[in-house]
Amino acid sequence: MTRRWPDAVQEYLAARYDVTLNERDALPGPEELRTALRSCDAVCPTVTDRITADILQSGAGRVKILGNYGVGVSHIDLEACKRLGIVVTNTPDVLTEPTAEIAITLMLMAARAAGEGERQVRDRSWAGWGPMRNLGADVTGRTLGLVGFGRIGQATARKAHHGFGMRVIYHARHPAPAQIEAQTGATHCASLDDLLSQADFVSLHCPGGEQNRHLIDARRLAQMRKTAFLINTARGEVVDERALAHALGNGTIAGAGLDVYEHEPRVPEELLALQNVVLLPHLGSATLETRTAMGMRVAQNLDSFFSGSAPPDRVA
Ligand code: 8YV
Repeated sequence: MTRRWPDAVQEYLAARYDVTLNERDALPGPEELRTALRSCDAVCPTVTDRITADILQSGAGRVKILGNYGVGVSHIDLEACKRLGIVVTNTPDVLTEPTAEIAITLMLMAARAAGEGERQVRDRSWAGWGPMRNLGADVTGRTLGLVGFGRIGQATARKAHHGFGMRVIYHARHPAPAQIEAQTGATHCASLDDLLSQADFVSLHCPGGEQNRHLIDARRLAQMRKTAFLINTARGEVVDERALAHALGNGTIAGAGLDVYEHEPRVPEELLALQNVVLLPHLGSATLETRTAMGMRVAQNLDSFFSGSAPPDRVA
């Protein structure tokens, strides 16, 4: 295990496997990852471990399965894993609702200028209530555009539609079944350009990795409404952060809420300097219940794999 996990999961795994824990939670470097791949049958990485083709090639030997702790796997070179015959699993479902909660949190915070207001109260610069002070934008009844409509996108749609009466549109490669559209109150938008021009809030729920790197760039930001907000709980690389800082600074869009960054934990100075962006430290799945459920989901995958059956959450 490359990081420290909740005790309940570590205990479960230690009772069944010969486990190398990381009690100090020190971030492993490339050499330690190679050593893990060479000496363990299963390695359990997280989003903070970059498992590149180079590390896989030079480290491969013993490892048979990567039980990733998290749903996103863009930090793992899946093609290299396939070539080397290494199985990869992830942890879907268990973090869907908490991640959607963070998307909604960011949407509310960004629209209602809650980050800026909180900073004012804390640094004692709040001059008191005023009819024209701390004005934000309404959320209820506005249009939410989702880019990607998997589990987390759908959960976000449900909360936005049923909780805030929002009109929800989504862009995805394939329209979702009619039943899902009815449950979530969402309608398919065939083109991303259309979605960007219609939405008051654009929330990203697509995978990261090369396929979607800088999908939201200067051109796409310019297609958004001047009054619109961009929300990212997906992966940092989906947004060109410099272009975003520029768009926020010159009024191309009204604001943004980010939970993920291209080079975590580094956040560009240009973003830190802006008031109209809410910046959270990758909180998507950050509750003890969820982190425990994620660990148990990894354990389920390992148990299936080592007992000779197909792991339920295989992604490569
Ligand atoms: C996880 C996430 O905590 O699951 C994901 O893809 O982004 C996070 O919520 C993280 O990936 C742990 O590896």
